[in-house]
Amino acid sequence: MAETKRTATLTLDGKTYDLPVLSPSVGPDVLDIRKLYAQADVFTFDPGFTSTAACESEITYIDGDKGELLYRGYPIEQLAEKSHYLEVCYLLLNGELPTEKQMTDFEFRITRHTMLHEQIHMFFRGFRRDSHPMATMVGVVGAMSAFYHDSLDINDPWQREVAAMRMIAKLPTIAAMAYKYSIGQPFVYPRNDLDYAANFLHMCFSVPAEPYVVKPELAKAMDRIMMLHADHEQNASTSTVRLAGSSGANPFACVAAGIACLWGPAHGGANQACLEMLREIGSVDRIPEFIARAKDKNDPFRLMGFGHRVYKNFDPRAKVMKESADEVLDLLGIHDNPILQVAKELERIALEDDYFVSKKLYPNVDFYSGIILEAMGFPTSMFTPIFALSRTVGWISQWKEMLGDPTGKIGRPRQLYTGHVARDYVPVPSR
Ligand code: CMC
Repeated sequence: MAETKRTATLTLDGKTYDLPVLSPSVGPDVLDIRKLYAQADVFTFDPGFTSTAACESEITYIDGDKGELLYRGYPIEQLAEKSHYLEVCYLLLNGELPTEKQMTDFEFRITRHTMLHEQIHMFFRGFRRDSHPMATMVGVVGAMSAFYHDSLDINDPWQREVAAMRMIAKLPTIAAMAYKYSIGQPFVYPRNDLDYAANFLHMCFSVPAEPYVVKPELAKAMDRIMMLHADHEQNASTSTVRLAGSSGANPFACVAAGIACLWGPAHGGANQACLEMLREIGSVDRIPEFIARAKDKNDPFRLMGFGHRVYKNFDPRAKVMKESADEVLDLLGIHDNPILQVAKELERIALEDDYFVSKKLYPNVDFYSGIILEAMGFPTSMFTPIFALSRTVGWISQWKEMLGDPTGKIGRPRQLYTGHVARDYVPVPSR
């Protein structure tokens, strides 16, 4: 529990109220207003939670001004260079890096959960072929509650653990199946001899008719994309998972809620929207037109992949992603990619433009991820599902932390009501 070393004083209508100031291990202090309504009969107002800490957490820390992202204290740059996705999953879930034995056991357990209940295949077939894979994923992940009854009891630590393993293991299978279904190809079963990222590429790109060999460099790039997306503090989808979980809902239902929230273009859907925007711009000479539109208050257009609620400096994930994009395009022999040229020039111009500089709008993680994924052969509709499967470990870690919090309560925000006061019903002839 965070320490209280001092208090802030609120004066209202001549009365004073002491608000404890909680000190985090790093980051801004937090005013504890939990007793404010009971004592002073007032609410606080913070739509969009720009100044509100909704929970106490030990998992991920972001310093938006420095452009710093830590998973359990470890900088994302170090993890991206030295670690791998499943190790990061262990770290996020358990709080510490695993020993060799712990890692082997964890990998073994995840690998043994990669297959889906065979009947889920029938569930997939209920969707239209042209469904967006995110639509399919929201449905199928929610439906896991109907297939895995032995991991629904949130009060049983073992069942919580099994649900976590199942989701981390099965989300790539579900995302790959959603893709295969959308292109009319047969589902490809997981291969347990491959590592997590390579297995995902195998399930997406292999066909029964011929052998498919996963390029190790592409598997590494995919693994890095997964690591960079694994958790991101109390963002919209994570807060959604926590809120859904606060009512006692089962973990599959909570993660389905997170996937639904992630889908929006202001959040995880930005990677698809960004690549579509880069395609629409098409060539470097059209960039000024789009920059002008992004700056025009009367035009709803925004530069997708730019800006962030917390980062007011370079998104550290975008830096790593940019390096990865260069490596992958090089490996695949894609030189003079017009989309990459547009992206690099757009970034250069925006970073010098007063509008973007003054508002501290920098490229975010979604700016370069789409370029890598497209080069690997993914259609834009798969970008957000890949974000979702990578973020699943973050959602589950935060959900587990929430359930373990002894001060936890159902999430129930209040409101600033500005509607009618009580009035009498008017019969139809008198309206
Ligand atoms: N292009 C042009 N102007 C922008 C942009 C942008 N991408 N982002 C913010 N602004 C402007 C905005 O118009 C506002 O201007 P003013 O103060 O004059 O009204 C100012 O910057 C602040 O924007 P905001 O909408 O109040 O900021 P926010 O913290 O609520 O929104 C954001 C953050 C990420 C939703 C927003 O920057 C955005 O819509 N970016 C594009 C979508 C995107 O790339 N999303 C991915 C985020 S990273 C991955 C993830 O979290 O899933």
